[in-house]
Amino acid sequence: MSLAGKKIVLAVTGSIAAYKTPQLVRLLVKAGADVKVLTTRAAADFVSPLALATVSKHPTLSDVNDGATWNNHVELGLWADAMLIAPCSANSLSKLANGLCDNLVCAVYLSARCPVFVAPAMDEDMWIHPSTQNNLNKLRTYSNHIIPVGHGELASGLIGPGRMAEPEDILTFLSDYLSAPQPLKGLKALVTAGPTYERIDPVRFIGNFSTGKMGIAIAEELANKGADVTLVLGPSHEKTDHAHVHTVRIESAGELYEACTRVFAATDIAVLSAAVADYRPEEMATEKIKKADSKLSVTLAKTEDTLKALGKIKTAKQTLVGFALETTNELENGRKKLKDKNADMIVLNSLRDEGAGFGHDTNKITLLTKDGGAEALPLQSKKEAATAIVNHILKLRHV
Ligand code: CTP
Repeated sequence: MSLAGKKIVLAVTGSIAAYKTPQLVRLLVKAGADVKVLTTRAAADFVSPLALATVSKHPTLSDVNDGATWNNHVELGLWADAMLIAPCSANSLSKLANGLCDNLVCAVYLSARCPVFVAPAMDEDMWIHPSTQNNLNKLRTYSNHIIPVGHGELASGLIGPGRMAEPEDILTFLSDYLSAPQPLKGLKALVTAGPTYERIDPVRFIGNFSTGKMGIAIAEELANKGADVTLVLGPSHEKTDHAHVHTVRIESAGELYEACTRVFAATDIAVLSAAVADYRPEEMATEKIKKADSKLSVTLAKTEDTLKALGKIKTAKQTLVGFALETTNELENGRKKLKDKNADMIVLNSLRDEGAGFGHDTNKITLLTKDGGAEALPLQSKKEAATAIVNHILKLRHV
């Protein structure tokens, strides 16, 4: 793990987890980072500023003005390659989310142009309070990275979520982001994921068992490689907190088509992994359909085929990837979809493969390309499959 030459401002706020920060600084320094530490007044009740100064080899700063010198928050904000707020208490979280500026940590946060990483730490009830969760969501909209909290024994004696991530995990999170190559920087990507629901009446729909996990993993992988991603996500319990994935929630095939065609012209890479309904009820009943005869017929009409529509308008600079979920004649059907929909690549899944398809955390895919290529990959996690898909896209784009 390397953070060689990276300049990091670590802001420590008032939480018992602050006692772990000298260890965190040691790990960051050992990985090659130059670390400057800021503390709030409350933080100094939990950890010694002298210990932090000793391990970071820089003075620990806590005030904009300590009487003798002016600590230039703008300069600190510009100096940093990354700002890490760990632990971030509920109080500091609220201040950052709402633009308060009554201490040096807040002033540097508002001045920072670099990526900001926040490692929250608080008791379970404070953590799950809607006010805290709203503040976290606000930080996400500012493209700040939230380092997931741990689950375990809390200072109150309760067991639950809210512990600050362990220093080793914070180091991994940071170095994954800061040292990852970004070959897709400056490019825009579009990903569709999850099922669609086609309403029959106000309480019933035609849907499928897709969870969206595969598409979300692809969206995150594209973003990790530097792309600015729009994720068009159907009804799913899954979500992503990635700072560079903007999620657009949709319900039906028609809404998916609208959302995709709106942004496609400005898109460099599109990966359509959603399990889109091919048919919708021709008419949606405005009232709940009552039970009457022994049979009920619902007439279905074809939905818009988004992949096909995008294939028709795509330019040579755009890379278009589709999925194919097949149960028979997989290769033949996959190749037909590649041609018919004018895609650059089709990710083929077979429902006959155990561990592949909807709901699993694993997938077994074959990547079909226009040059006749068929790369069959072993059963792997959806995250690994996403990496393989994105790496293949890089190859197609010669990056
Ligand atoms: N797709 C789409 N819009 C649709 C149907 C499918 O964008 N209305 C996309 C899917 O997201 C996927 C690809 O087309 O990337 C293939 O989807 P699939 O359901 O396997 O194929 P279909 O074209 O629907 O054909 P069939 O169901 O007959 O196999």
